Amino acid sequence: QKEDVSSSSCSPLSALKKLPECQNSLGQLTFSMTHSVLIDVKIFNRGRSLSPQEGRDVWHSNFVKMPCSQLSLMTTKGAVFKTTNQKPRWDIIKKQLETLSKKSAATVKDVEDAILKYNPKYKGRWSFDALATFVERVHETENYFKPLFPKIAALAMDLPNSVKKAIPLLRRGQTASITLSQAQIACLLANAFFCTFPHRNTSDPKAEYHHYPSINFTSLFEKWSERKKEKLRAIMHYFHVMTDKEEKQDGLVTFERHVLRDADVPNWRSCKEKMSKLHVTSRGSIETEGTGMLQVDFAASRIGGGVLGSGLVQEEILFLMNPELIVARLFTEKLADNECLVITGSQQFSRYSGFGDTFEWAGPHKDNLPKDEWSRWQRQILAIDAVFFKDRRDQYNMLKVTRDLNKAYCGFKAHFPKEPDIATGKWGCGAFNGDPQLKAVIQLMVAAKVRRGLAFFTFHDEKLELELQQFYHLLVTEGTTVGKLYGLLEDFCAVQQASGGSCQVDLFDFIRNSLKPSRSNL
Ligand code: AR6
Repeated sequence: QKEDVSSSSCSPLSALKKLPECQNSLGQLTFSMTHSVLIDVKIFNRGRSLSPQEGRDVWHSNFVKMPCSQLSLMTTKGAVFKTTNQKPRWDIIKKQLETLSKKSAATVKDVEDAILKYNPKYKGRWSFDALATFVERVHETENYFKPLFPKIAALAMDLPNSVKKAIPLLRRGQTASITLSQAQIACLLANAFFCTFPHRNTSDPKAEYHHYPSINFTSLFEKWSERKKEKLRAIMHYFHVMTDKEEKQDGLVTFERHVLRDADVPNWRSCKEKMSKLHVTSRGSIETEGTGMLQVDFAASRIGGGVLGSGLVQEEILFLMNPELIVARLFTEKLADNECLVITGSQQFSRYSGFGDTFEWAGPHKDNLPKDEWSRWQRQILAIDAVFFKDRRDQYNMLKVTRDLNKAYCGFKAHFPKEPDIATGKWGCGAFNGDPQLKAVIQLMVAAKVRRGLAFFTFHDEKLELELQQFYHLLVTEGTTVGKLYGLLEDFCAVQQASGGSCQVDLFDFIRNSLKPSRSNL
């Protein structure tokens, strides 16, 4: 049955579902075997006030090994394992942080000396040149950094009082979540700033945390570049706000790892769903115009990608504007093909302009989103990593296509009766080299399957904006189903593979020709 032309056009953004209109009733905040809450839920449910949940120190492979654990030991020179020359490492950290926190201003050398006292192995190996050049060069009026270092040290030192319950690791293959307060996140990030997390400094493939992203900030402090300057401006601004006694951040943030079980993987070939609503625009961005929607983070499997290094594309920028996202790196194991991470409640602290080399920190951002019943900012971020293609021709392969369909499905799938629609764009099409038409089809199919609308931000790409609008119009007028599109993708991949990737027809044209052979033969 063909639909009329007016309803086959793209939708205005206002027609898509957003928070807070489509929020669900959450009920009382509770913890469970799979939801760890690091604040006291009884106190919270009584009056929304935040107090750390009591707990005990756990030094175990299922939990974050904390710098303040009594079992985190430091061997003093010449000693062998388990001799009396071992000291709790936190004693040394605390002493350094305490000394720093008492200063009215600290230099980068003070920061470096403190960090190297409890990371002596890295003396001469870690460089702090980027941090030093930053403090030296950034304009005087903005240079609040020297008095800020002691405040970050004081924040870090508070770890044993701030986070008392062990933090579970969000491990591969396990659907689980963690809720913690913004103040707890700030304290954990202050520890990351001072590089206190044990066992997290090596990239050795046999290392315990090899499958986790890095968390200590060492790589942010080294190798000065303009990029590092702008990154440090964003990070220092975050700490500036979080250490300001006048500012009160009293929200909670939830990190949820979802695993798509084999039994729940759709049989794409037989899906009967037709297109859901689509809004396409070349103007605006996922995080601004997509406010209130499930906002896609074009992620790396190690969450946050190069945010602490030199990377500066969509994910890294998102993490710099919302630095609380960085704490996910502490506990989120590398995402597998059938997994995603959803983060609810992070605050946006900064604005930016540019992208990559032109990226600039553009000043503070005052968040004015409403909060939900669990005191979380109504911001939902979905981290999904697309397949990375070294050679673009490799993507016309149904194993890869299906992998990305399932990855997006894991993220787009609704978990509550009411969910906002999805704000996305050229997922996997920048650093990861994907074909924007193919990725648009994949995301359209998944949105149709889960019956959620899609806002697609082509990010200044006017050609794709027009092509996608016309293509969508065709799919709707033809009543094309997800299963039909899957079959056409198989045909397209077969043609691409047969031609060794030299087939010049683009995907939209190929599908158009297949759906409307008569017209294309004219
Ligand atoms: N809103 C909408 N579209 C955007 C935005 C935005 N805010 N920012 C960028 N784009 P990319 P990938 C468009 O390269 O290919 C990171 O290092 C823009 O056209 O960030 O999935 C991660 O950690 C851009 O070219 O995503 C991963 O390692 C395109 O989206 C890796 O990059 C793709 O953005 C992921 O790379």
